[in-house]
Amino acid sequence: MTAQLIDGKAIAQQLRVQVAAAVTERLAAGKTKPTLATVLVGDRMDSATYVSSKQKACAELGMGSISRNLPGDISQEELEKVVQALDDDPAVHGILTQLPLPSHINEERVLQLISANKDVDGFSPLNIGRLAQKGRAPLFIPCTPAGCIYLLEQADVQIEGANAVVLGRSNIVGMPAALLLIGKNATVTVCHSRTKDLPDVVRGADILIAAIGKAEFVRGDWIKPGAAIIDVGINSKPDATRKSGYRLVGDVNFEEAKEAAGFITPVPGGVGPMTIAMLMRNTLRAAEMQDP
Ligand code: GUN
Repeated sequence: MTAQLIDGKAIAQQLRVQVAAAVTERLAAGKTKPTLATVLVGDRMDSATYVSSKQKACAELGMGSISRNLPGDISQEELEKVVQALDDDPAVHGILTQLPLPSHINEERVLQLISANKDVDGFSPLNIGRLAQKGRAPLFIPCTPAGCIYLLEQADVQIEGANAVVLGRSNIVGMPAALLLIGKNATVTVCHSRTKDLPDVVRGADILIAAIGKAEFVRGDWIKPGAAIIDVGINSKPDATRKSGYRLVGDVNFEEAKEAAGFITPVPGGVGPMTIAMLMRNTLRAAEMQDP
């Protein structure tokens, strides 16, 4: 069996067109331009690439962006001042502090400064708390897990009643992905580094969300025939045939898994583009809430 590919790039593009149309309509009505502030600390190449993609997307969709690129040795106090000033600025609708922050920074204290209605990452205690509670809607849902669910829904994968396995329990992906799946009536198992008999647990999954950051960790014989695989991993793997000397691979061994799965996302071109599209949607929503 060869799995059906879930084309994240195309699905994200459709969503971006919808968001851009809503932005155009908003501007035509004389309302403020939805504006995202990004905060980047230090010189991690991957973080810098992600942040510049987010700013580029703002420009392409007719939204504004403000960037604060700060040195890696910035003090906690200085960083908090920058984030607080953005939170106080009425021209800023959404704030994204790119994670991870350098190890000397207390991430929780920085993120706490972002008001819930500017928290386009959906990481604030209020937003996560509401996500965790039955019948309570958060103001914003974290972008990557929201993108995973959107891909499943676009592919018409039945979530209700499915056995879903989430690999990874990070605040950014695994934990909120598990909460979203529970909210959609899946039966959810969250796996991590101490999970016993991991391949056997994965073998029970109708839906697998892999977010552990280990290149091609999930093998083809772990996949239940017909399962839907959402691969969040973006890992670089040495490849002498490429000019760059490397290529990007997911957390799932794609070549093996596609023979068993019913649906699978590629890397790149799967979840990555969805994260940005969801961030754009959240930023539009933030502007609509603050400046109806
Ligand atoms: N680092 C990796 N993914 C994300 C994300 O979705 N938001 C933020 N702020 N940092 C990240």
